Amino acid sequence: MSEIQIFGMSPLKGEISIQGSKNAVLPMMAAALLHRGTTVLMNVPDIRDVACMTDILEHLGCRCRRQGDCMAIDARQIEQTAIPDCFVCAMRSSIIVLGALLGRMGEGGGCYPGGCLIGARPIDLHLKVFRELGAQIEEKDGHLRVRRGAGGIRGAEICLSYPSVGATEQAILASVLAEEVTVVHGAAKEPEIESLCDFLNNMGAVICGMGTEHLMIQGVRRLHDSSFRVDGDRIVAGTYGAAAAAAGGDVLLKGVKPSDLREPLRILGRMGARIQPEEKEGRIRISMDGVPGAVHICTGPYPQFPTDLQSPFMAALACGQGTSRVEEQVFEARFAAARALRAFGARISIREREAVVEGTRPLMGAQVMAPDLRGGAALAVAGLAAEGETRIGNCRHIERGYEDICRDLSALGARIRWVKEDGT
Ligand code: UD1
Repeated sequence: MSEIQIFGMSPLKGEISIQGSKNAVLPMMAAALLHRGTTVLMNVPDIRDVACMTDILEHLGCRCRRQGDCMAIDARQIEQTAIPDCFVCAMRSSIIVLGALLGRMGEGGGCYPGGCLIGARPIDLHLKVFRELGAQIEEKDGHLRVRRGAGGIRGAEICLSYPSVGATEQAILASVLAEEVTVVHGAAKEPEIESLCDFLNNMGAVICGMGTEHLMIQGVRRLHDSSFRVDGDRIVAGTYGAAAAAAGGDVLLKGVKPSDLREPLRILGRMGARIQPEEKEGRIRISMDGVPGAVHICTGPYPQFPTDLQSPFMAALACGQGTSRVEEQVFEARFAAARALRAFGARISIREREAVVEGTRPLMGAQVMAPDLRGGAALAVAGLAAEGETRIGNCRHIERGYEDICRDLSALGARIRWVKEDGT
């Protein structure tokens, strides 16, 4: 398996286009199951999670054709209603396929997604959504089966006690083809939810309230063929923003909406970066002289600071100056990257949900393993700001969400490359 090799301490300079959003495209691919026809997605990122979702759709009977960044999903014939265990284990978010299967086929099944490195990640809210829509749930030997009740999937009023992204998506997918109206109170407001609703409305669904915590889904009988362009990935853009803050330089990130990144950009500004958002052009210029200053970050549901950028930003703060505080309020155990950053000489202490980061300069290159997707990207950020050589192993985690982190960062002038097992 390949490793990433980085020689740090060179500032980033240049411009790149940001890939399509992972967290937007995955539920859209699941939603394609709802339509007995063809759905075309554009700007689909070439990442492992998309490959996994493609495998799931094909297993269920869809025909997926990919050409460049375009993907056509033909869901005329669905033959299966169970997601094989291996896919749920490889990608937890595959559980949202259940909502789409329930909507289209009246039933769906899969194994119970276990806990993972970033916390227990229960699915109680997903199950609540199914129950309130009148579905029956069977749980046996770690497997789940949801089936529509005798009255079909009925519209319902669902109150989420926490604005879970996945549970909100599940409610949308399960109710688009339901009878009557479904209202979700306490819905997540992430831009990816808004994109999913725009995508579904473009297919003939009737959803309103996007961007608010109250979504209303008027059930429709059928959807129609459509094509839709996936937005740029705000988390990938934010990662490269953190890299520019850590290594210094001047970068232009194209194909991403600055307004989706308001809080991370505000934090980057407080760290000392100059931010020029160009909303109409869909791009952001970030320049940084000097070293990152100390800040207080607290993650939370959108529009608060995204938990997915917590570790890349922590890496930038670790090579800054002063004492920063990073509070993780979304996932209870998301500090695996902090422990790996210590190998670079970072001084980070963790108490429950809070990390205290004492800026240290320079960090020293290290040999580390990516602990998870965003944690792996954080180690690359640290490597760019560290003296000497860094090697990152276990990169399959990074490939789940970044098309090619070495391609992107070397286009910005970083000395970073893939090293194959044979050393080439
Ligand atoms: C999605 C994103 C992930 C991001 C997260 C938070 C995708 C594929 N993944 O994950 O990158 O980090 O949103 O922005 O879009 N919870 C419960 N019960 C549930 C569901 C969630 O207690 O039934 C809790 C979780 O344990 C967590 C919090 O709610 O503490 C947020 O989870 P959620 O918003 O559901 O995240 P995901 O949809 O899994």
